[in-house]
Amino acid sequence: MNIIKAENYKEMSQLAAKYLIKQVNEKPNSVLGLATGSTPEGLYKEIIHHYTEGDVSFKEVATFNLDEYVGLSKDNDQSYYYYMHNLLFDHIDIKDEQANLPNGNTENLQEACKQYESSIQEAGGIDIQILGIGLNGHIGFNEPGTSFASQTHIVELDESTRKANARFFDSIDDVPAQAITMGIDSIMQSRQIILLVSGSQKAEALEKLVNGPITEKFPASILQKHANVTIIADHDAAAKLSV
Ligand code: F6R
Repeated sequence: MNIIKAENYKEMSQLAAKYLIKQVNEKPNSVLGLATGSTPEGLYKEIIHHYTEGDVSFKEVATFNLDEYVGLSKDNDQSYYYYMHNLLFDHIDIKDEQANLPNGNTENLQEACKQYESSIQEAGGIDIQILGIGLNGHIGFNEPGTSFASQTHIVELDESTRKANARFFDSIDDVPAQAITMGIDSIMQSRQIILLVSGSQKAEALEKLVNGPITEKFPASILQKHANVTIIADHDAAAKLSV
């Protein structure tokens, strides 16, 4: 694993943006895997900045987000569809039909999962997947105990994850109980992975990811087995790493 320590959140975001922009400039029809949450917000700001400066175009790019809540409509401001449009897609030249998220607002969730997985394959697979990490080691919404062989599937959200995400909702009762997420195997099939980690509260999780045993009890530990992972951690998140 390639570990890059950034001074702070801004530098972490700038470095991640550089990787993505280089990828898109070298391969204009790149397939990018994207994440939501607090961590990549700065990355998306940097991308918009570079797009506005004319450094990059997303006209031919396809994106696939890691996950989406079940039962929230696209215009619900807590849906990941809304988040992505608000924080990135509406500000760059990506084609709407090329910006994909799992469909969590449908009668047939199983079918939505299958379709999502095949759309990724049809697009040629993911060139670079952006990841964050949860305090319990989740990646996407793959909570502890998820099979390493999992593909896109429906999950019951952990109480700790619902609590952590309650800050975006009026109350914890409004946080959906289920989500659709790419599976661990779907994530591991990406040709390159960039994991962003920021803040002292993530230091322990990052240390476990890097040095801990590879176990389904801590999903992110599987990344030790991926051939091309870059971790960009800010100063506080890297505090427990000895490298
Ligand atoms: C989001 C996602 C999650 C987050 C993780 C960290 O699409 O897949 O795994 O990356 O929960 O969230 P933040 O960045 O809010 O700490």
